[in-house]
Amino acid sequence: MPSILVTRKLPSSVLAKLCAIGDVDVYDGEAPIGPAELKRRIAGKDAIVCLLTESIDAAVVDAAPGLKVIANVAVGFNNVDVEYARGRGIIVTNTPDVLTEPVADFTWALILALTRRLSEGERLIRRGGWKGWALDFMLGTDLRGKQLGLIGYGRIGRAVAARAPAFGLRVAFTSRRPADPSGAEPMSLDRLLNSSDVVSLHVPLTRETTHLIDRRALARMKRSACLINTARGPVVDEAALAWALKEHLIAGAALDVYEREPAVHPDLLPLENVLLAPHLGSATKETRTAMAELAVENVINVLRGRPPLTPVS
Ligand code: GLV
Repeated sequence: MPSILVTRKLPSSVLAKLCAIGDVDVYDGEAPIGPAELKRRIAGKDAIVCLLTESIDAAVVDAAPGLKVIANVAVGFNNVDVEYARGRGIIVTNTPDVLTEPVADFTWALILALTRRLSEGERLIRRGGWKGWALDFMLGTDLRGKQLGLIGYGRIGRAVAARAPAFGLRVAFTSRRPADPSGAEPMSLDRLLNSSDVVSLHVPLTRETTHLIDRRALARMKRSACLINTARGPVVDEAALAWALKEHLIAGAALDVYEREPAVHPDLLPLENVLLAPHLGSATKETRTAMAELAVENVINVLRGRPPLTPVS
């Protein structure tokens, strides 16, 4: 029977599928498994189902000489050293598609909440600061007629774009892809930063996208513009963002991801013009179950000698 490590509790119906085909070792700590425990538990395993909170680096891979598949329960796979694993003949899989629509919905939740100052207003009420309705009280900004600039135009970026007509925004995007039949306009990064009212990040985290949004990029943006990050924290230089928000070089930001999760740059915390969410983009019961299910199907396929459903390409 194959031996499988699961680094966090999965829905029981999903776990049952794994238990039917192998010996399953589930790490059930509340916090993510630490690197030493991970190396100890992965030894002798044929497969691992892991989350974005685990770093599957060369040392972890080396600790499991018989490993055949790394199934990451996330669409992003920057936590896995894919090149090293591939070099060792290990298949790496992720969970695309099943989370595209919920993450796009959540991106719009952030855009709307930020431009209509929802979390700011809620904080005000909770600290007893609301003095009542006034014509000029806590005014946000309209979206209609504005430009949504998408940095990254893969599955999630396109799903975010598809919702834009409902709110009356035109869409611009940066991408290596050719022009889009939907009418969204491809642009250079500089032009997109310079002309967009809402800039939303949908790129994977790679060497090239690390700190893509730095001081220089933020200074290119309109003073009235907002930045949304539901991609990966290190795409934004958090210290630079805190500076830009404090200096009102941009109007606001909504973040779901951070450079050193769960830590948030301390300079962001006192700012009213930033909305902070705790990495909830794909966090619905249905979606998280579907993600776990897809990861498990990938493991089952590989262990049965079949191609995985969603290998990382
Ligand atoms: C979540 O952040 C994911 O990559 O699936």
